[in-house]
Amino acid sequence: MRLETERLIFRRWEESDAEDLFKYASDPDVGPAAGWPAHKSVEESRDVIKNVLNGKEGYAICLREDNKAIGTIELKLKGHTYLTDRDDECELGYWIGKPFWGQGMMPEAVKEMLRHAFEDCGMQKVWIGYYAGNEKSKRVQEKCGFRYQWTSENVDVPLLHEKRNECISLMTREDWLSDNKLK
Ligand SMILES: CC(C)(COP(=O)(O)OP(=O)(O)OC[C@H]1O[C@@H](n2cnc3c(N)ncnc32)[C@H](O)[C@@H]1OP(=O)(O)O)[C@@H](O)C(=O)NCCC(=O)NCCS
Repeated sequence: MRLETERLIFRRWEESDAEDLFKYASDPDVGPAAGWPAHKSVEESRDVIKNVLNGKEGYAICLREDNKAIGTIELKLKGHTYLTDRDDECELGYWIGKPFWGQGMMPEAVKEMLRHAFEDCGMQKVWIGYYAGNEKSKRVQEKCGFRYQWTSENVDVPLLHEKRNECISLMTREDWLSDNKLK
């Protein structure tokens, strides 16, 4: 299945993406905001490609012009999110390399993933979170039409050995259909 937008293509991560992943994931402004430490070596990035970015609905976000990976987007399915234990609900997670911030690329990617979640995967609800203080991610979620639900306090961030408050929002199938005027 080909997932694409005007500027982006989503595809599976490949081990040969390790150097591109390291380029963006070694930036301390990227991972820690999403709950994981900056990568320290290309080897670590390769390991993450093999063992972390291999979720069933996980994709490398690539520039259409050269197919190079610049970020990641994933529907975290049952068993991989604490927000639901249902087959027809999932959590959306994402990040993109700093050189690409501020161009509306993540909202563009999120809109396509929502279409994929509801149309192709039959989801009824897509949950999403950001750690309190992450205004950039908050803006992406607002711009994409997610509705704020609650703030979970002192959520474990295991890879960083700390606890944070996490603001949780939701897009239901009904919200998505009415936003896209397909009802
Ligand atoms: C959050 C993130 C995905 C946003 O992606 P993006 O493609 O830049 O999204 P947008 O272009 O829509 O910008 C979103 C907001 O970021 C802010 N922003 C954009 N570029 C910025 C920059 N260079 N520096 C600081 N803030 C910036 C703006 O407030 C913008 O909102 P606005 O459109 O209302 O002005 C990206 O910043 C990122 O990957 N951050 C690190 C990892 C992370 O936080 N992941 C999410 C975990 S929940």
